[in-house]
Amino acid sequence: MTGYQRHIFVCTNKREPDDARGSCSKLGSDALHACFKQEAKRLNLKGVVRANKAGCLDYCAQGPTVVVYPEGIWYRVTSEADVKEIMERHIVKGEVVERLLMADQAPLPLLSPLKA
Ligand code: FES
Repeated sequence: MTGYQRHIFVCTNKREPDDARGSCSKLGSDALHACFKQEAKRLNLKGVVRANKAGCLDYCAQGPTVVVYPEGIWYRVTSEADVKEIMERHIVKGEVVERLLMADQAPLPLLSPLKA
């Protein structure tokens, strides 16, 4: 099968330490990206789900920023526990993790679990 059922983009943008905008990398997003990859492996989702690094996603003040497609759901992810919850609930079961949504999240689409 080509393509992925779900695609996770993790902002790992880096800015200079004195840049007032901050950056997701400064907030630990590289480790969070690695955790998404580990979780995909642990859940045996290779070829089904992919976690990619992304440049700035314009939510710098609310980061670390993660967006999941095809639904276009935006999350603020700050810990490995957050990553595990998104992987187990959103990615596998098709449930939105409401406690991690970005503040100005658009109306939520209906999700569905991964196909076997
Ligand atoms: S630096 Fe991550 S959203 Fe801008």
